[in-house]
Amino acid sequence: MMNSSGDVTTIRVAGERPYDVVIGRNLHGAVRQALALGTRRVAVIHPPTMGESATAIGAALVESGFLVTYLPVPDGEAAKTAEVAAECWSALGRAGFTRSDAVVGVGGGATTDLAGFVAATWLRGVPVIHVPTTLLAMVDAAVGGKTGINTSEGKNLVGSFHEPAGVFCDLEFLTTLPAQDLAAGLAEVIKVGFTSDPVILDLITRDPRGAVDPASQVLTELIERAIAVKAGVVAADLRENSSSGIGREVLNYGHTFAHAIEQVENYRWRHGDAVAVGIVFEAHLAQASGLLPSDVVALHYEILRSVGLPTSYAGAALDRLMDVMKIDKKSRGDLLRFVVLEDIGRPVILAGPTNEQLAFAYSALGKGVS
Ligand code: GLY
Repeated sequence: MMNSSGDVTTIRVAGERPYDVVIGRNLHGAVRQALALGTRRVAVIHPPTMGESATAIGAALVESGFLVTYLPVPDGEAAKTAEVAAECWSALGRAGFTRSDAVVGVGGGATTDLAGFVAATWLRGVPVIHVPTTLLAMVDAAVGGKTGINTSEGKNLVGSFHEPAGVFCDLEFLTTLPAQDLAAGLAEVIKVGFTSDPVILDLITRDPRGAVDPASQVLTELIERAIAVKAGVVAADLRENSSSGIGREVLNYGHTFAHAIEQVENYRWRHGDAVAVGIVFEAHLAQASGLLPSDVVALHYEILRSVGLPTSYAGAALDRLMDVMKIDKKSRGDLLRFVVLEDIGRPVILAGPTNEQLAFAYSALGKGVS
């Protein structure tokens, strides 16, 4: 359910413990709205680059009578380690955090994944509130309760589902986000356009410049639409174990191949860039399987390129990528599993594609559709 009042839009995520995703500007004073009655202490987890914003949020909480502890963590994926989580647990212990206290994660998707994981595991679960500061975190990582850290075997292999008590998407953060990071976040929005909301594709086709302009109404609408889709998906299938239909797995369109690129490239690729290439690969895979018409594959290239996203990959060999994909969380046994499209808005699971189909998709990648 979406509600707009003034410049603020609220999207309710239904489920066992419903919560709101608030989208607007200058929201640092609003975070306390998501804290339960009886909360005394709040730990603000943030990377050093977000120190000023964390302080603004913390100061507003102090003004409202909360005791605030700041937990600076490394930037990006470097925060998602067992060591950093252990440091956060120790800090919570030293500050006397009880079950009625709360964690606030301020940062990109890596920070909110870590903050969620720390909150999920401290005393078997304390509330977490996310303040995502990148487009990718706003439209994906911070919504839906997936939390986790990485191990040397792969990304997000340790984690749990722990839904936030609230999410505050402050669009002002996007005005200082590097252009490439903004575009990378759009990859997740475009993914949602192809799987679930074609209006997203129309909006970007009509105004690709607006789509990458943090001040534009178009970008605000794209964000709201992507979050509304994700809210509906996770409300229906939080734990990705839907017994009817594709469920939460729909959000993994492009991700099987994207995670393999990220791992073989030692996480030097932006997640969104890898997702952009991943959805092109998976579109070609659907084409090779006789599922997807080539004009829809061509539309993938057009839309991704119009906002400056990559559509080709010339790194590791397919065999190497396949080895990595086999241990992906989405695989079952030895069967590779992909979300593919039968058409725009019609996602299905393709389990066990043939080597020929995979080779076709890999060699077509980047060449477009002739
Ligand atoms: N990022 C995919 C999901 O939240 O399920």
